[in-house]
Amino acid sequence: MKNLLISAISALAIGTGLLAGPALAAGGGEGHVEDISFSFEGPFGTFDTQQLRRGFQVYREVCSACHGLKYVAFRTLADQGGPMMDPAWVRAYAAEFTVMDKETGEDRPGKETDHFPAVSGEGMGPDLSLMAKARAGFHGPYGLGINQLLRGTGGPEYIHAILTGFTGEEKEEAGSIFYENHAFPGGWIGMPPPLSDDLIEYEDGTPATIEQMSTDVSAFLMWTAEPKLEARKRWGFVAVIMLIVLSSLLYLTNKKLWAPHKGKKFDL
Ligand code: HEC
Repeated sequence: MKNLLISAISALAIGTGLLAGPALAAGGGEGHVEDISFSFEGPFGTFDTQQLRRGFQVYREVCSACHGLKYVAFRTLADQGGPMMDPAWVRAYAAEFTVMDKETGEDRPGKETDHFPAVSGEGMGPDLSLMAKARAGFHGPYGLGINQLLRGTGGPEYIHAILTGFTGEEKEEAGSIFYENHAFPGGWIGMPPPLSDDLIEYEDGTPATIEQMSTDVSAFLMWTAEPKLEARKRWGFVAVIMLIVLSSLLYLTNKKLWAPHKGKKFDL
């Protein structure tokens, strides 16, 4: 019984992060990425609705000029666990876009079932729908997976680091302008610094510093990349509990089965 208790307690401890490894191996080799403790990290983390709303506002007022979100359907903006925008607002917002109808081939106003448009062309950036999962800001120590479990792989931190990593230096190369950025691999990025303090006015009154906008939009992009993160964590937790219960039953059954024979001497 004592062994069982010890394993159950250590399983729980790992689950809740008591045994979390020490510092991060930051950097991931190239640019410099700072850790941020986002609300959605850890086994019980959830998205912060207000933060997702602010991040969405940053995306729509700033980033959408150059970056698409083609894997995100407008209607998901109203979903539980997401920015939870009002469904009527979402319908009106979708209608501001012009979408080519797949059946008739004609342009029509967007519907909530449509996706954000893809954005492409000269000076435009890559699609941001899955960026927070496509990039890693840092890597846990030697593949134990503990850091990934508790802090994620740093995708949103990477986006935050890019947005806050500009030095102000720029250079021209082969007719294109590059901006010095400490977080971008190689140190120079083709994106002009998109944020400046008070660039937007937050609907909830939060002061719109570069730091605040970068954190909020990174959280929003984590949501676009993994909208079902909370459900996944919830089921993961249920699975762990089930495993603990099953292991205890197995242990006790095993004990009971062999109890009559315990202490007996056998002639071999
Ligand atoms: C004026 C157009 C423009 C705006 C506005 C803009 N970007 Fe970009 N962005 C770009 C371009 C172009 C690139 C590609 C740069 C490169 O590869 O050198 C880029 C690259 C990026 C990258 C790096 C992707 C990678 O490959 O690792 C991220 C992250 C990013 N943008 C996020 C944002 C966010 C978030 C916003 C809004 C706050 C934003 N961008 C606003 C043009 C823009």
